Amino acid sequence: MALLLRLLLLASALAIAVLPAALSRNLHSATQDGSAAGSTAGPSSATKTIVVLGDSLSDTGNLFNQTRGVVPNPGAYWRGRFSSGPNWVDHLAQIANTGSNASVTVLNYAYGGATACANVPGTSRTIPSLSEQLNMFLARETTEGASPSAAATFAASTRTSRLKLYKGRSAADSDGGPLCQMPAWPQAKPSADSDDGGDDSERLFVVFVGHNDLLSLHDSEWNDPRVVQAAVTNMTYCIVDVLDRLMASLTQQRQQQKARQQYQLLPDADSDDPSSPFLAAGDADTVTLTGPRDRVVLWNLAPLETAPAVPDAIRPKVATAVATANLALEAMLTPLRARYGASGGPGGPNAGRDNGWLSLDLYDIHGTCFCAQHHTAKYGFRNASQYCVHVDRVEDVDGISVAARLTRVSAVAQRDNVCSRPEDCLWYDSLHPTSLAQRLAFAEPFARQLGWQLG
Ligand SMILES: *[C@@H]1O[C@H](CO)[C@@H](O)[C@H](O)[C@H]1NC(C)=O
Ligand SMILES: *[C@@H]1O[C@H](CO)[C@@H](O)[C@H](O)[C@H]1NC(C)=O
Ligand SMILES: *[C@@H]1O[C@H](CO)[C@@H](O)[C@H](O)[C@H]1NC(C)=O
Ligand SMILES: *[C@@H]1O[C@H](CO)[C@@H](O)[C@H](O)[C@H]1NC(C)=O
Repeated sequence: MALLLRLLLLASALAIAVLPAALSRNLHSATQDGSAAGSTAGPSSATKTIVVLGDSLSDTGNLFNQTRGVVPNPGAYWRGRFSSGPNWVDHLAQIANTGSNASVTVLNYAYGGATACANVPGTSRTIPSLSEQLNMFLARETTEGASPSAAATFAASTRTSRLKLYKGRSAADSDGGPLCQMPAWPQAKPSADSDDGGDDSERLFVVFVGHNDLLSLHDSEWNDPRVVQAAVTNMTYCIVDVLDRLMASLTQQRQQQKARQQYQLLPDADSDDPSSPFLAAGDADTVTLTGPRDRVVLWNLAPLETAPAVPDAIRPKVATAVATANLALEAMLTPLRARYGASGGPGGPNAGRDNGWLSLDLYDIHGTCFCAQHHTAKYGFRNASQYCVHVDRVEDVDGISVAARLTRVSAVAQRDNVCSRPEDCLWYDSLHPTSLAQRLAFAEPFARQLGWQLG
């Protein structure tokens, strides 16, 4: 009952969260359009780096490459995405690229089939788990100057023709207001900071995983509450553990960077003092350091309970497991913020006390998807439960898990299995949204919440 109450509270909080907050954005885009306005501060060297850790919902070709072009099957799936076209990572990169003048780098370590915990029973050991994905990113960071990671891919040109599909399809209701919109997060670094060289570079870290930890339970295991609870507990622990390691590592990077910059700022005379290799104590805080903002964003679990792939018999149990996990994840962010002095969360940044450069937030993808599913007509989707890729003999196999079924579907689906108008559907196969759904329900609300202009 307590859980139900909290869910209701969450639902009412969501209802408030979808109220429009787009007015200030229009102002920004107006100044962007006037080319003179943008050039007054000199050439801005803003860079955006998007680092993604996740599963098939975010994979932009890693599993496809690892399986040498077999999964997901290129007959039905677009360029190694588990979707009909560009997925939310591609869309977000494209938004970052057109909405501002930043140069955008994507480091995507998401693999289809990946779990939050290593060694989840019934999953492949060869697919990097969340922790291994983080290790791949950290290894890249320590080999400075190394060639870009194999996971780094962003070619804006290849996407543009595909993106024309979306012209005229926008997620606006009859009053013209955007649907499923989250209020923008307060910016930890206000633009008044532009005195210090105007470095508004940022690194965005998105962690979006955990679905396969639940979906690799066999249909029969869902009847054992202890097994389900263990899966939820393990998964939330594994996610928080990786966030902790990531933030520890970012903090260490920042301290090293700060030490280097302070060393360079020292007048030569001071360097005689062997006890003070850097600044005298007290000066450290007065030096304005430039460097990227690091924004860590945990996406909660998507509403798996609504996926056509989930058998009706276990649907309520999946819903409860997802809700329990999402409440636990949200609760664990507060202590993490405190440990690293990060801003974010309800109330926004606390600039006086917190590190302005580091934030930790939760993106409620569960809420935005839920909203999109309840406004299918306004989004231009035919039906919230129909899906486009059907491989009947594989989908109907009993006695395995949802994840196993979908792995088979994505391996064997061919052109013949694809419906004629994928973009009429919210779902592409019975677990993964179409490219358009990933744009309207994943990427655009997220970009707005980040405070990015949609271009
Ligand atoms: C981006 O910046 C470059 C030089 O810094 C400038 O030439 C170009 O016009 C800018 N583009 C936009 C869209 O502001
Ligand atoms: C693809 O995988 C191979 C190893 O299997 C790796 O060497 C290569 O860099 C990968 N390429 C991309 C684009 O991920
Ligand atoms: C949870 O983790 C424990 C310890 O690693 C493991 O023995 C157990 O199998 C896991 N349970 C599930 C359902 O993943
Ligand atoms: C949506 O599609 C499903 C499956 O084809 C069907 O059972 C259902 O009646 C449809 N709902 C609406 C509102 O058309």
